[in-house]
Amino acid sequence: MKFDFIYFDELPSTNDTAKQKASSGAPEGTVVIARKQSAGRGRVGRSFYSPEGGIYMSVILRPRFSRLTLITPAAAAAVCKALESLGFDCRIKWVNDIYKADKKVCGILTESNLDKGWAVLGVGINTVCPGVNAPEIAGWLYDNEADNDKIIKLVLSEFSEIYEKLPDDGFIKYYREKSYLKGKKLLINGAEYDYKGVDDDFGLLAEKDGKTYKFVCGEVSVKTVV
Ligand code: BTN
Repeated sequence: MKFDFIYFDELPSTNDTAKQKASSGAPEGTVVIARKQSAGRGRVGRSFYSPEGGIYMSVILRPRFSRLTLITPAAAAAVCKALESLGFDCRIKWVNDIYKADKKVCGILTESNLDKGWAVLGVGINTVCPGVNAPEIAGWLYDNEADNDKIIKLVLSEFSEIYEKLPDDGFIKYYREKSYLKGKKLLINGAEYDYKGVDDDFGLLAEKDGKTYKFVCGEVSVKTVV
């Protein structure tokens, strides 16, 4: 995929700007990047704390396949691979978070408009410490400085490689291998489950009282039990 970058000092949310641009016809590969966001958004109505220093980017996609739910896990695998190539041992927390040593270093939010044929892939990475106002769960990659441009290019190159093959979901093997939830007890809607895996639709499989349940992304928020 060919990328075309649009940089901003500050935006409410790069996803919102990218969605506007997608609606008015911006091509696939347009990447909206902001140095900080004043209203960064996460999944299920949560906010994403976005101070200066981190990476906040949204990529416009015009998918030629219908299984749009593949985009978020594909991006999670891409970010994990990119960070691995920089020497970080990261894990994917179903469905859209990247963890390093029990702390969240990256969140992914995909939004789409099926009628208009676009999707916007939003990626936020705490490359440096997000400061004292960051949520407790937030981690970061580098203590001092980070080469954000280099990380952005690595992530986009890994993503492009997986995306060009979609709806081939061969990357699921890597996604499963890198699961942060493997071997953990989960807290889902207030009840405890054992992690069982991720099925072929990227649904979360979890066991309780000898019965396996499937959870679909967007439906639940998963915590681990310590
Ligand atoms: C999550 O943690 O649930 C997802 C967070 C996604 C954050 C990124 S930062 C760039 C893009 N713009 C947003 O407003 N959100 C995404």
